[in-house]
Amino acid sequence: MTDYRDKFRANGKLRSEEWFNNPNNPAMTALYLERYQNNGFTPQELQSGRPVIGIAQSGSELTPCNKIHLFLADRIKAGIRDAGGIPIEFPIHPLHENGKRPTAALDRNLAYLGLVEILHGYPLDGVVLTTGCDKTTPAMLMGAATMDLPAIALSGGPMLDGWWKGELAGSGTIIWESRRLLAEGVIDYDEFISRACASAPSLGHCNTMGTASTMNALAEALGMSLPGCAAIPAPFRERMGMAYETGKRIVDMVHEDLTPSKIMTRDAFLNAIRVATALGGSTNAPPHIQAIARHVGVELNIQDWQDFGFDVPLLVNMQPAGEFLGERFFRAGGVPAVMGELARADLLNTDVMTASGKSLGENLEGIRSADTAVIRSVADPMRENAGFLVLSGNLFDSALMKSSVISKDFRKRFLSRKGDENALEARAIVFDGPEHYHAMLNDPDLNVDENCVLFIRGTGCVGFPGSAEVVNMQPPDALIKQGITHLPTVGDGRQSGTSESPSILNASPESAVGGGLAYLQNGDRVRLDLNARTLNAMVAPDEWQRRIADWTAPVLEHQTPWEELYREKVGQLADGGCLDHATKYQKIRNTLPRDSH
Ligand code: FES
Ligand code: MG
Repeated sequence: MTDYRDKFRANGKLRSEEWFNNPNNPAMTALYLERYQNNGFTPQELQSGRPVIGIAQSGSELTPCNKIHLFLADRIKAGIRDAGGIPIEFPIHPLHENGKRPTAALDRNLAYLGLVEILHGYPLDGVVLTTGCDKTTPAMLMGAATMDLPAIALSGGPMLDGWWKGELAGSGTIIWESRRLLAEGVIDYDEFISRACASAPSLGHCNTMGTASTMNALAEALGMSLPGCAAIPAPFRERMGMAYETGKRIVDMVHEDLTPSKIMTRDAFLNAIRVATALGGSTNAPPHIQAIARHVGVELNIQDWQDFGFDVPLLVNMQPAGEFLGERFFRAGGVPAVMGELARADLLNTDVMTASGKSLGENLEGIRSADTAVIRSVADPMRENAGFLVLSGNLFDSALMKSSVISKDFRKRFLSRKGDENALEARAIVFDGPEHYHAMLNDPDLNVDENCVLFIRGTGCVGFPGSAEVVNMQPPDALIKQGITHLPTVGDGRQSGTSESPSILNASPESAVGGGLAYLQNGDRVRLDLNARTLNAMVAPDEWQRRIADWTAPVLEHQTPWEELYREKVGQLADGGCLDHATKYQKIRNTLPRDSH
């Protein structure tokens, strides 16, 4: 049997050797070896100095978006073996965006905790993170960041493009469109379901530039995947090849001791922010990226999204900000092509190190868009200044607005009335959570008209719990039938990354902890000023103070023990919605856990 010690001992003892080859505690070593034999590994193999590589398996029938990883695992293992490593596959807590109630966002931190405990407590020297559905990517990058063990992300890839009656049908985006058509009476319930099913034609995650495609693209933009990984559609043969190469590469990363903290630097995060704008990426990206940054120990704040991302142009013509879906994005060159276009315009720091072992600049050499209908150049973009605006005022310290989805019609209808195309004054309609919204929206007594802004509160991390994707509220049916398909909406929750609604969301602090939205009342006047980046309730200061003094915090009803624990520990969306106490644990691979017997 080949002895790999010389090769992998360049950086000292492998972590796994503490388990499999520890003469100071022979009973313990024997207990590990005798039982890992039942995986088919021989004691000689486990003591040959090969790195043990975990495969963090996110696919299951509870997370169908990632089910492809159950098949890709064979190719990952082949790559790990061919490079001299020993693969060990293990499951992570399921995180399915559509299936988990009350929201998969509640479980992101639970999967993170589970992964940290696995990486820290088991004999692993490196890990392949199998990413895909929305929260699977941030949960795993957060866990790898806390541990700081060599790690590489492998996206499962998006589904094939969906089609309905000769037109592209994109994940999620078709739901929001169909919801309006149903309210207008244009389609019935059965057609609604058929349209949705048509948008999901194969294995893979959402085929729009929703949260899943955004977060996989940003994992690659951060340098945590091999170049070109994010965009390959799940069923394509290239996806299997990428799984194999990723497996091979992680073994060398262990040899090089190339850890997440060496890749995910502040410069890498600023690159990711710029890429997020160029993609027209999801409004969920800021909290997830904030969370990853905090766990890896990089200073990043919500204002950085506006300071570094706002004036970047939208380059990618993909739903919901544009027309196309994942297959065309892949053929146009995917993330390397987007980054290649940004780098040519000097919008990226190309010195940063990546999982390939090369700098970003080396990875991108000579790479440009292969189809300018899908990935445009910085000189000829889809639109200028397409990043997130960070708003503030007496209703919140910060909230986000995705400017790439503000349509001309929306601008004309709501923002131009007073001759100032960036401001509006309106009457507030306030809902306490999504159930209240659904129950009340069509009540004629609410008197919702086109001079209203819809607010929803109680939907943040603590309030919901987990923060709900509900801020993209649609207007009452009667208004939709008059052709008013959107009203401005504001909330302390999130919205789907596949939504084309220019909502003001992720308001922090949330109402449940006493944020300003808690004091807003139905009928209050509010003023939005996009030039000043403010949204304020126009309520007299003494009246506002009186409401604050009279406020009592809502009684939170926990349905599970995790909800209670989560609410106790979680922070606000502006800070990534992390378990705040967890962010002090960094580079914990340097602390070896005690022997179990
Ligand atoms: Fe899983 Fe969109 S619901 S990727
Ligand atoms: Mg969603």
